[in-house]
Amino acid sequence: MAAKQPLSDVEDGLLAHLNANAEIPDSRSFASSLGVPHKDVEDVIKRLTAFRIVEMQDITKETWVLTDEAKGYAARGSPEVQLVAAIPPEGASKGALKERLGDVFDIGMKAAAKNKWIGFEKGNKDLVLRKVEDTRDELQEQLRRLENGEVIADKVIDDLKRRKLVTKEKSIWYSLKKGPEFVAKRKTLATDVTREHLKSGDWKDLEFKDYNYGAQGQPIAIGYSQPLLEVREAIQNIFLEMGFSEMPTNMYVESSFWNFDALFQPQQHPARDSHDTFFLKAPATTTQLPDDYLEKVKQVHQSGGHGSKGYGYDWKRDEAEKNLLRTHTTAVSTRMLYKLAQEKTFAPKRYYSIDRVFRNEAVDRTHLAEFHQIEGLICDYGLTLGDLIGVLEDFFSRLGMSKLRFKPAYNPYTEPSMEIFSYHDGLKKWVEIGNSGMFRPEMLLPMGLPEGVNVIAWGLSLERPTMILYGIDNIRDLFGPKVDFNLIKSSPICRLGL
Ligand code: PHE
Repeated sequence: MAAKQPLSDVEDGLLAHLNANAEIPDSRSFASSLGVPHKDVEDVIKRLTAFRIVEMQDITKETWVLTDEAKGYAARGSPEVQLVAAIPPEGASKGALKERLGDVFDIGMKAAAKNKWIGFEKGNKDLVLRKVEDTRDELQEQLRRLENGEVIADKVIDDLKRRKLVTKEKSIWYSLKKGPEFVAKRKTLATDVTREHLKSGDWKDLEFKDYNYGAQGQPIAIGYSQPLLEVREAIQNIFLEMGFSEMPTNMYVESSFWNFDALFQPQQHPARDSHDTFFLKAPATTTQLPDDYLEKVKQVHQSGGHGSKGYGYDWKRDEAEKNLLRTHTTAVSTRMLYKLAQEKTFAPKRYYSIDRVFRNEAVDRTHLAEFHQIEGLICDYGLTLGDLIGVLEDFFSRLGMSKLRFKPAYNPYTEPSMEIFSYHDGLKKWVEIGNSGMFRPEMLLPMGLPEGVNVIAWGLSLERPTMILYGIDNIRDLFGPKVDFNLIKSSPICRLGL
């Protein structure tokens, strides 16, 4: 086949032919007369038909085409003739012939024996002898005729079919005539006015392509917001609208004291085990703990006070000094409350934080060893569980979760404590969305907060609501080293809910 011609040449050739001859009865022979693949002519026909420059009619025919095996025989001869041609006058061993002919050997032997073109000497079945001088290669002739599109007798076709040398194929080609918009040569429409057009004056005669106002713009190759950041910002705005101020959360490394002891979490509590918490090797301990407050924490653990019996065990400073990666942002809330208790006069506060926490967890579809926690707290005189429920309903309804249920729970640092559930309309079930409670007097009074001041607080992960809002079911697609960039790029700006 000739070198590839541009489609515009094929188009010019086709229009010139139609202009001179009024019709093209068979696009397939037209393609071979141009020396181009029928596919190219077909592309041009479809394009011209769309502009009504030509009119086409399908011609569908079932034809017999050669299989790959048959194409080989058409080019190199049938197996039986190849075999006979390979036998010298003195004969040849089967092994030698097989080596020369490869795959063709077995088929050639069978067909040649049937035609009685070969034979064997008595007693030597290995030496193949040639019985004929000249062999006409009828098979090759038939295959070549078929390849050229000639008509072949049905009997021959049946024979070829049996030998699996032909298969039936449906082919479509076209007959063409001039359409209502026929032109002998199509003008190429200009898409832009160029400097050259202006200089040469061509612009006066050019025809311009219409603008396609319906075309979509290119996707813009800019940065995309991480869903976690989007949801974080939305939640941050909710806190700000509700009059909360942000706590400083820039300490990933905490001492056990602020993460556990100050929260009245006993030293033998299972969460303080290395199976649950990442402890630091260096520096393994802290030297900076407020001594007088530490003494009060020790007292309340060992023997209670403020109406509590305490835990009644031997509290160890060593254990409190151990450094760890904070397991919850409640460590930050604790530091803030302590700071607040050191002020001369108490003033009510609303605080929030959103930042990273770490837990020694087995990673799976819903758990990572580091994630983000959202925490809110209010401290004031005389707060009740009713206040907590009211604030939670306000907060979560702003997040699009207005059906809430509460379940009694246990935290060492809150009493009462409640798990928070929300009804998910999409999932059609109640899902746990957070944890909450009123900080215990054993936590607040040793800090020095005035009697009668209560703290209501709640915490939840940032990942959970983000996954719900974006319909993501594997946390590893959202956060961590295996984040799915396509998911980040294609996630909608407007979400259900918030
Ligand atoms: N610290 C709790 C957690 O990690 C959340 C919480 C915060 C619970 C405040 C009660 C009060 O799940």
